[in-house]
Amino acid sequence: MTETQSETQPGTQSETIAFPQDRTCPYHPPTGYPSESRGQRSVSRVRLYDGRTVWLVTGHAEARALLVDPRLSSDRENPAFPFFAPRLATLAQRRVELIGVDDPEHNAQRRMLIPSFTVRRAAALRPRIQETVDRLLDAMAEQGPPAELVNAFALPVPSIVICALLGVPYADHDFFEAQSRKLLRGPAPSDVMAARDELDEYFRVLIERKRREPGDGLLDELIAKQLETGVVERDELVRLAEILLVAGHETTANMISLGTLALLQHPDQLARLTEGDGSGVPAAVEELLRFLSIADGLSRVAVEDIEIGGETLRAGDGVLLSTAVVNRDASVYPEPDELDLGRGARNHVAFGFGIHQCLGQNLARAELEIALPALFHRFPGLRLAVPPEEIPFKPGDTVQGLLELPVTW
Ligand code: HEM
Repeated sequence: MTETQSETQPGTQSETIAFPQDRTCPYHPPTGYPSESRGQRSVSRVRLYDGRTVWLVTGHAEARALLVDPRLSSDRENPAFPFFAPRLATLAQRRVELIGVDDPEHNAQRRMLIPSFTVRRAAALRPRIQETVDRLLDAMAEQGPPAELVNAFALPVPSIVICALLGVPYADHDFFEAQSRKLLRGPAPSDVMAARDELDEYFRVLIERKRREPGDGLLDELIAKQLETGVVERDELVRLAEILLVAGHETTANMISLGTLALLQHPDQLARLTEGDGSGVPAAVEELLRFLSIADGLSRVAVEDIEIGGETLRAGDGVLLSTAVVNRDASVYPEPDELDLGRGARNHVAFGFGIHQCLGQNLARAELEIALPALFHRFPGLRLAVPPEEIPFKPGDTVQGLLELPVTW
């Protein structure tokens, strides 16, 4: 995956590298991406699967400037939008709300949801998260070692929490976790379409049921305040529910599994997480978010010309931002490849930046701040059950994380 190939665009003769590439270590960015820290450009050309050349942004200042620039669009229905795998390109036929739309529609949707995702709301969910985490850890202890941590802990924690928040029955988790997996990882374009169809139908039925028998989740609130009043249509609400459910569990699950692996591989840092009164935990989680940057490859399309990093991005050019390389910019984070839980990793772009900055970040932080220390406090002898090189991790064209994490204690 790291080969170079001659650029074929008229007027340029430079070499372009392929995007995306797989990580060679599950918690480091792919070694083949350009990096300012290695003296390379902060804005460069990369080649997609279909031969199209787009921009890759890897500098911290450039990424933050571009992510707040309205001349970049997130509209997946724009024919020039850069998808980096064929199965993702099929999504161009289907509307993706919130993350895939521009203002003013985006702003209207976001304003509808923001009250449910504030720091205060996340704080109010903490007892529920703690109880979920404790219950799952009890079950692991009862079963005894070994355990497969993704299924026993990393996935159910955020899955149970987002279900409670939305008012989606957790009893349906096998179904929606499987559909989310297909949506994010395919492998075939037809899998993505089938998963969208299944989830559309699931939420249409759920919304109709909730109209008759209201519950107390966010979805019920949106039905009462937005759907019944004619502010949103049912199909828009279906798509909003989908994005919240999918984004709300896969991402945090990957952070828990990959965070656990990274901590096990850095015992000195693990000790910093578990020692003391817990006041260092929020900073530790920020550093893990920076270091692991699981949502790598944010996609945009330029709708006007933009000068940045010594280059001119033309209207219609595809633009990708590697959060993983941006978060390793040595001018912002000294010794960027070191995991240093005490560094105070501020201004990272692991949750993006600008208008699309992660809506669920307060919730994700609360989950990580509770789940990771609790795991290591409950099982102080936690260790890998297989050699690290045998742990399967996800390919570069999706949210980064582990497929399995066999552990023992
Ligand atoms: C550690 C876990 C998570 C990470 C690393 C993460 C990462 C991200 C990133 C990078 C973006 C910006 C995408 C872009 O600019 O194109 C984003 C957006 C979003 N995330 Fe998260 N996310 C996480 C957890 C969550 C959770 C728990 C939810 C809960 C619902 C959530 C919901 C969303 C939504 C709805 C958006 C779209 C926001 C918008 O377009 O206005 N995320 N996330």
